[in-house]
This record gives sequence, structure tokens and C-alpha cells, in this order.
Amino acid sequence: MTDSRDFVRSLGADNAAWWADRDVRLDPAAPPAARLAQIRARMRQGVYNELRSVELIAAWIPHVPEKEIRDLLPGQLDDEHRHYHLLRRRLQDLGQDPDDYPPLPEWEALFDWLVACRARPTWEKLALFQFAGETQSCDGFETLIALADDVDPESAALYRGQILPDEYRHAGIGRRALTLLCDTPERQAAARAACREMNERVFGAYRAHRARVDRGA
Ligand SMILES: [Fe+2]
Ligand SMILES: [Fe+2]
Repeated sequence: MTDSRDFVRSLGADNAAWWADRDVRLDPAAPPAARLAQIRARMRQGVYNELRSVELIAAWIPHVPEKEIRDLLPGQLDDEHRHYHLLRRRLQDLGQDPDDYPPLPEWEALFDWLVACRARPTWEKLALFQFAGETQSCDGFETLIALADDVDPESAALYRGQILPDEYRHAGIGRRALTLLCDTPERQAAARAACREMNERVFGAYRAHRARVDRGA
């Protein structure tokens, strides 16, 4: 059997390879005005996603019996709640009403599904959200920051200084959970399958999101 540390490393590398060229939410080649529109759409969606992350973690905490991992989740919940308020305030400063956007079905479905996964074993749940999801979020934020630096430097600074460091910590919770718990071939296979499931669902949401932004909807 693969040692759990080696397993986590190789699963992380496989996920990263899977995601190459699949974060279609932002187009680095787009002219500045279109890029800014894509960034603002990401920020508006971020308000929704951060709040749903709070709800998701609250729903999961009672279903994470492993104390060492459960103890890390309230801190993550707190971070996501702070991110929600930070992004709302930034949109308000930009003259936008953060309450003026209806939930988009692709993201609503993703979070509804994640909440419904609450009873799955911890190594599957945390493979879904913290390990696969949050790691991809970090890559997505790195891209967002790089593409926002010239067209919206204040938002880039907000993400760089006050959101991204927390998201790296959340991805670390996923790595820690899988390192601790994926100590049998069965658990490793289940965690790997959970990552694939999550990656495919998130990619579906990204594609729907981008199509909507391109339509100007
Ligand atoms: Fe967050
Ligand atoms: Fe997070």
C-alpha cells in the first residue's frame, strides 16, 4: 500500500495536472475591459460562494468525528465568513449592490450537493472540498490576482493580502485530513474518486459561469 504521505503528494500532483487549462472563468488574452468584467463576475460570485462555504462547513462539523480535523473547521468557517464580508464591502465601494444578484444555478447546485455529502466519511468529504476544491481555489485566486493587478489593483491587493493566505490554510486542512486518514487502499481509492467527482463538478460550474459572462447575462 502507498504510504499516506506519498498518496497525498501524488493525488495533489494528479489534481494539478487535471486542472491545467481548465479554469476557464478568466481569459488572460481578453482586452482589459472584458477582463475587468470577468473579474467583477468572479467577485460577485465570490460573495455567494463564501457564504455557502460557511453553511457547508457548519453542516459538516457534526459529521466529522475525528477531533484533530474537526477542531480545524470552526477556524475555516470564521475565515469564509470574513471573506464574505470583505467581498461585499469591496463591491459596495465599487458602487455595486452585492444583494442584487440572483444565485446562479450551476453554483447553487454545486453547494447543495456538497452540503448533501455531509454524511460521507471524513476522508471523502475533505477530499472533495478542502483538498480538491480549496487547492483549485488557491490556483484560481493566483490567476485572478495576476489578471487584476493592472485593471483593479485594489481588488488584487484584497485577494492577495486578506483572502489567499487563508485559502492556502484551508487546502492544508485537506492535506492534513487525507494524510491522517487515508491509510488503507480502500480509503485512498475513495478519496481519489471523490477528487475526480469534485473536479468534474467544479469544471462544469466554471464552464457555465464563463458562458454566462460571455453572454453578458
Ligand atoms: Fe474563502
Ligand atoms: Fe476557503
